[in-house]
Amino acid sequence: MKSVGIDAVEIWTGNLKLDLPGTFAEQMGDDPAKYTKGLGLNASSFPDSYEDIVTMGANAAHRLMERKGLEPDDIGRIDVATESAFDNSKPVSTYVAGCLEQVFEGDFHHANKGERKFACIAGTQSLDDAYNWIRAGRNRGRAALVIATDTALYARGDAGEATQGAGAVAMLISEDPDLVELSTEQGFGSADETDFLKPNQQFPSVDGKRSVQVYLARMREALVDYQREAGTITVDDFRYAPFHTPFPGMVRKAALLAYRHITRDTEIEDELAEDIGRQPREEAFDDEEAFHDAIREYMDALKGTDRYQEWYANTIEPTLTISREVGNWYTGSVHVARASALKHAAENDIDMAGEALLVGSYGSGAQAEIHTEVVQENWHEEIEALNVDDQLEARYDINWEDYEEIHDAHNHEMDVDIEPLTTPEGEFVFDGWGRMGERKYRFVD
Ligand code: HMG
Repeated sequence: MKSVGIDAVEIWTGNLKLDLPGTFAEQMGDDPAKYTKGLGLNASSFPDSYEDIVTMGANAAHRLMERKGLEPDDIGRIDVATESAFDNSKPVSTYVAGCLEQVFEGDFHHANKGERKFACIAGTQSLDDAYNWIRAGRNRGRAALVIATDTALYARGDAGEATQGAGAVAMLISEDPDLVELSTEQGFGSADETDFLKPNQQFPSVDGKRSVQVYLARMREALVDYQREAGTITVDDFRYAPFHTPFPGMVRKAALLAYRHITRDTEIEDELAEDIGRQPREEAFDDEEAFHDAIREYMDALKGTDRYQEWYANTIEPTLTISREVGNWYTGSVHVARASALKHAAENDIDMAGEALLVGSYGSGAQAEIHTEVVQENWHEEIEALNVDDQLEARYDINWEDYEEIHDAHNHEMDVDIEPLTTPEGEFVFDGWGRMGERKYRFVD
């Protein structure tokens, strides 16, 4: 059977940075610890006035193609996953291809292009499409370019404003990949939910507290489905578990739930029982409320055990490092978590070849997907090539007035033209509007 997976990855962050415990908390009159400790965020990345989903996606893809020495003919498919699209007909992938054709010889006329939408899970769904296309043998030896790109902005004053972010992840999907091979096995948890949606509007309508519960419920459903397909798994089967990360505090909750679920009826539950008792079983309770209270009590105790804390520090914490500095990138978020984990491994001389990852994707509306990945021999070279730390470091730190202006400049309902705060260099920029209302782009050396 063909080995198919992610051959290479590149990350492109918005060029601005909003300091959450500093600039944002001060304006909101909040304790900075709500951001750093509660949500787990230090900063949001923001797009400058010349940046958008196309520029960030094309910039990530440009870096990726240059680094891998690719030409347009090597790419048979370009899929963009986004929930920030500005056109209901013409897909963002056509704009991205147009940008890339400005800087590469040749064109993408024979590449199949599309756009995937299902909130944040669309990035993983695009990986899926590319995987299936290659496994079906329809790729003619070519690779697929998958780009997850979003400007995850919320309306001013919405509780979600603290979790904003902007950036893109470009991934090359191919046979015999250099980074990770994707499992055939998948688990899904999917239901018609109204926790977060954008009914023909730019900023989401969000029921934040409910969205947290829906994330957990669908993720658990997906895990059960995955286990049905793949058989028994243990918490030690995976070196890292990158999850969709709207903010690190969300993953803190999801990881605890996953750990409880996976360790039920295992030796680990028996060993932990000496300190914290066994997990409450529903059949032992007369009413639901008492059962839920008992579960909450068990989770609190589990969270405090050395065993859980050690697992969390090794398996989950390293997946959150980049997210803490950038906020939610919607479709790119789980792919940032994977990169963050592998970067941690490279920096700590952990040999990852042959190790497994448990990947949990999620999109509001709602759907979760679980699959596993096996890290490949050349992973180290691929991860070392990332320059994400330099990009994060180079961001321009905006003050409150800048923030208010830049948020307005990206608000589709406002007509605000502001001077950029940074100077583009070696990147694509938004270059105004065309005669049919299309957006135009140019490469700046
Ligand atoms: P909020 O009401 O502003 O915050 O909204 P909070 O009061 O719930 O506080 C957040 C955490 O900080 C809590 O931790 C507090 O206790 C803690 P928790 O109890 O939940 O563990 N906290 C503090 N900790 C230490 N010191 C302090 C302090 N103060 C408070 N002084 C909410 C939070 C998540 C609702 C909001 O940010 C929101 O609406 N976010 C947008 C929706 C979202 O991100 N949902 C996540 C799940 S849905 C999802 O992931 C999909 C999504 O990516 C979209 C898509 O799929 O397209 C969003």
